[in-house]
Amino acid sequence: MSEQAQTARAHWSGRWAFFLVTVGSAVGLGNIWKFPYMTGSNGGSAFVLVYLCCILGIGVPLLMAESMLGRRGQGSPVGSMRVLADEAGASRLWQVIGYIGIVGAFIILSFYSVVAGWVLDYTWQAAEGFKALPKEAFAEAFGALLASPGRLIFWHTVFMAMSALVVLGGVTGGIERANKIMMPALFGILVFLVGYGAVAADLPAAWRFLFHFDPSAINRGVLFAAMGHAFFTLSLGMGAIITYGSYLERDVSIPRTGLAIAGADTLVALLAGLAIFSIVFAQGLEPAAGPGLILQTLPLAFSQMPGGHAVGLLFFVLVVFAAWTSAISLIEPGVSLLSERFGMARRPAVLALCAGVWLLGIAVALSFNDWSGFTLFGLGLFDLLDTLTTKIMMPLAGLLIALFVGWAMKRAHVYDEIRMGSRVFVLWFNVVRYVSPVAIVIIFLNIIGVIG
Ligand code: PHE
Repeated sequence: MSEQAQTARAHWSGRWAFFLVTVGSAVGLGNIWKFPYMTGSNGGSAFVLVYLCCILGIGVPLLMAESMLGRRGQGSPVGSMRVLADEAGASRLWQVIGYIGIVGAFIILSFYSVVAGWVLDYTWQAAEGFKALPKEAFAEAFGALLASPGRLIFWHTVFMAMSALVVLGGVTGGIERANKIMMPALFGILVFLVGYGAVAADLPAAWRFLFHFDPSAINRGVLFAAMGHAFFTLSLGMGAIITYGSYLERDVSIPRTGLAIAGADTLVALLAGLAIFSIVFAQGLEPAAGPGLILQTLPLAFSQMPGGHAVGLLFFVLVVFAAWTSAISLIEPGVSLLSERFGMARRPAVLALCAGVWLLGIAVALSFNDWSGFTLFGLGLFDLLDTLTTKIMMPLAGLLIALFVGWAMKRAHVYDEIRMGSRVFVLWFNVVRYVSPVAIVIIFLNIIGVIG
């Protein structure tokens, strides 16, 4: 049970396992809930193009950097950073990267789980079948869910329990096993849904919406939204990739796997977009519905279209799998720190961490109803935590990681872990040294309102 408490560090069973678990972390609500509605609200193809550039230009290099830190550090995000700072003769203050990640993951999970709870509630409704009602009824139904503390807390609790259960099983027996079942199933369902879009809905319209490039629609807002989302969707800066990397064997190529992971994550987002917009356009509905896209617009479509009952259920099961495999990657970094620092066995570490997240999540659930009067900087708790993590902590951690790898670590050590053709290495290294920090600082200044 307590693999971590033993001296030998757990390892994935191979490169395929690392690929699957990391794709499991990356593919989540970000791909199937956020990406489609952000695309819908940010001009379709313009957003997609900028997003692809951000993934390739900032996301992949940082994903490689993070996996490398974990594999070389062989510890929790904090422990790894300490080892690496010592190795580089740099200040131990660099451990702050690990702390930002672990605290950030804790906070993200508290609201991620509440949103995943909405999805569980809708999965339940989808199993019964959405009744054909006028459009307004679907908006009201979502509003009623948000207004019900009991329902929100119930499903949040279920989701936290499901996630804790997997992590209790350990690195290979729990996390790896769950991903080996859920990720192929997720991909199969997604391909089926796109096939459905081609046969029974409006795939060409969805294709045009996502890929008919219109440069005039690109503006600064699109650029910043896409950069921020690239961080979130690749699980960067939150200790998840460092932790998963720490269970990685030396013989796996980080550049190749990193590229494959980012490619798979992007493919899933695009396929989800195609499936969702095929259905939305076939029913003559609005693509720019915002966060309610999959919870208001899609159920309306499911209630009207042929085979909507089965397709609706499959869709929500897909979203549950995506959220579940991401949530476990938000738990493991904290668990690895608790066992490393306090010698805690896996079971008490998982239970303590999840109980804390669960409590914060209850406050998040209540922020939609009973406690909606509580705001700070004009934001309710949900938006406050979302802003704090995805707009501040993630870019900050990303910046520090780029600076540490690019400037503090010994180049020979970095090369030793990354080992690619020397020209490609130089390219990657310079991106991490110069391009990533500059880009992140620019996003950051925009976010805090200094520019833009
Ligand atoms: N990448 C996940 C998603 O797209 C979210 C996540 C962020 C998971 C950070 C782990 C760490 O939903």
